[in-house]
Amino acid sequence: MKRVIVGITGATGTIYGVRLMEMMQADPEMEIHLIMSRSAKLTLKMEHDLELDYINGLAHEVHDPGNIGASISSGSFHSSGMVIAPCSIKTMSNIAMGNTGDLISRAADVILKERRTLVVAIRETPLHLGHIENLARLARIGAVIFPPVPAFYNRPASLQDVVDQSCMRMLDQLDIHIESAPRWGEEGGVPAVGQQISGGRGS
Ligand SMILES: Cc1cc2nc3c(=O)[nH]c(=O)nc-3n(C[C@H](O)[C@H](O)[C@H](O)COP(=O)(O)O)c2cc1C
Repeated sequence: MKRVIVGITGATGTIYGVRLMEMMQADPEMEIHLIMSRSAKLTLKMEHDLELDYINGLAHEVHDPGNIGASISSGSFHSSGMVIAPCSIKTMSNIAMGNTGDLISRAADVILKERRTLVVAIRETPLHLGHIENLARLARIGAVIFPPVPAFYNRPASLQDVVDQSCMRMLDQLDIHIESAPRWGEEGGVPAVGQQISGGRGS
């Protein structure tokens, strides 16, 4: 089993967290632990028609963001790492400063102290110096700072192509290799958003 923790916060781009989990369905060895912040649920409603039940159904275990006693809040819970996508400035800054008052920041802090991989898909623009200083601090304590910046060399034909390419690269950071988008000089792809499990929009 490869365990991965997925955090989804209230920054715009909740689709990144959803798509990461959809892609990981391709690997039967994956065990996904999901935490969605309260703000993420609000942002999701503004951005998508996807139902929360569908998103929760992509995870093996869904954790309440307020449950700081959850399994994933302990270093004894072994995992391959954690990805927060999208990651708000608030959550990024909390992790950088060691403010671990909710489960997303606590689980992320545990990942860092245990020297595992934390991928932070920070989503804000433009950035002021305070943001940049917190990002630098987070990079120094071991996080992978991964703003989901589109690539164009693979000639994306849709928004989904753009999202898939970033998600594939985020999973690469966790040593999970899913061919959801063409790599440089290659072809590839996985089914569309909302089509991965029964009960999804496309089922
Ligand atoms: C539609 C919408 C889009 C937002 N986009 C961003 C964003 O891109 N980056 C960001 O840092 N915050 C963004 N926010 C604000 C966060 O949701 C807010 O700071 C929240 O407190 C983050 O909490 P969380 O990190 O616990 O999810 C957005 C809010 C809304 C409603």
